[in-house]
Amino acid sequence: MRLSRYFLPVMKETPADAQIVSHQLMLRTGMIKQASAGIYSWLPLGYKVLRRVEQIVHEEQQRAGHIPMLMPTLQSADLWRESGRYDDYGQEMLRIKDRHDRDMLYGPTNEELITDVFRSYVGSYKDLPLTLYHIQWKFRDEIRPRFGVMRGREFLMKDGYNFDLTKEDALHAYNRHLVSYLRTYERMGLQAIPMRADGGPIGGDYTHEFLVLAETGESEVFYDSQITELKFGDRQIDYDSVEQCQGVLEEFTSRYARTDETHDGIIFNNQVPAERQRSARGIEVGQIFYFGTKYSEAMNAVVDDGKGGKVPVHMGSHGIGVSRLLGALIEANHDDKGIIWPEGVTPFHCGIVNLKQGDDEADGACEALYKSLTAMGLEPLYDDRSERAGAKFATMDLIGLPWRITVGPRGLKNGVVELTSRRTGESEELPPEQAVAKIAQIYGVAAA
Ligand SMILES: Nc1ncnc2c1ncn2[C@@H]1O[C@H](COP(=O)(O)OP(=O)(O)OP(=O)(O)O)[C@@H](O)[C@H]1O
Ligand SMILES: [Mg+2]
Repeated sequence: MRLSRYFLPVMKETPADAQIVSHQLMLRTGMIKQASAGIYSWLPLGYKVLRRVEQIVHEEQQRAGHIPMLMPTLQSADLWRESGRYDDYGQEMLRIKDRHDRDMLYGPTNEELITDVFRSYVGSYKDLPLTLYHIQWKFRDEIRPRFGVMRGREFLMKDGYNFDLTKEDALHAYNRHLVSYLRTYERMGLQAIPMRADGGPIGGDYTHEFLVLAETGESEVFYDSQITELKFGDRQIDYDSVEQCQGVLEEFTSRYARTDETHDGIIFNNQVPAERQRSARGIEVGQIFYFGTKYSEAMNAVVDDGKGGKVPVHMGSHGIGVSRLLGALIEANHDDKGIIWPEGVTPFHCGIVNLKQGDDEADGACEALYKSLTAMGLEPLYDDRSERAGAKFATMDLIGLPWRITVGPRGLKNGVVELTSRRTGESEELPPEQAVAKIAQIYGVAAA
């Protein structure tokens, strides 16, 4: 992409109505525009990151054997009357009437809809286990939407649902989700800690929330500092292996880590030496649940058990806050100049800054870099505007591309360009081919 042709409505001033840094930076970089309270248009730069995050979620879900599909945003109230939640859900549910006076709603979640899909087609234990998921917009009429995409009213969520014959199988599905979530967040360059959470209105003892530590987080959390040293890394996990998934769950959840809803000061003091006790704030970026037969019983989702009987299936639901993740990513990765995208989710792989637009040699070198990077399947953002160098650097720093190649007549005389890391600020001079090779290596693509 050439910046002169792109749509990047950058703002110089920090918007007064945005209270936290991620919201400010998303507005300043032209990633989002508020359409109405808690509802946003995703402008090109924001949309690009949203898609990158979504893609990682898809890949990791499918790696775990979960099957993608898509359910609608608008749902009929009838299914929610069956489960009893139409009356229970309260004012967060946006209720709508269609022209025939039928009660509809904009889905805040999809347990009812997916249970209806399941019961319509699946009748035998032989078709289990099954985990279906989708990434779809949700609506919750939050009383106080705030902090931009962190607490929106319309927001994008990955929600997945497992169907299993027994509690034991469903707990394996739970563990599988925990493992896949750890991988998902790490690939994005985020540390999200699984913490024991409260079952809330859905109920159930088996639930963990994944929290990214950040001062601006809305949750209060308590944990053993050892937990922040755990890394999933590049270990290979067989998602069918009950032992392996259980092993990861034990490794990542045996140390004390709880949100304020389940925090117990006495257990905390008994289990964790004082010097390792931490209390902090966190952003909830996901949650996993096992809730047994709550919906399958209410909605008659039963299967033949192979012994002549019919049994309700054991279920769980598992959510990732896809759009909220963008806010969490920025809270965890920024400095006073702007965003610093982790390589895994960056909207463009690197920036190219031409210090002397209109100079034949500089223009030619930038074009050549642009072509080589593009040929490898990478997306550079080439600042080809006739702006001062300082303004170009400020824009690149603000939008946070992890790598910048700076091209100017002086360097070119010596056959070099400059490669700069946004995170460390360190630069090195090297021939253009070597800069390209280095970017290729960073992103793990083969040089063309
Ligand atoms: N209003 C919202 N705006 C953006 N993301 C949200 C919102 N509500 C929930 N999410 C995301 O969707 C994920 C799964 O939804 P879940 O039902 O667990 O939310 P929740 O526990 O009600 O969230 P919260 O406690 O923050 O209101 C959450 O972990 C969160 O990341
Ligand atoms: Mg939750």
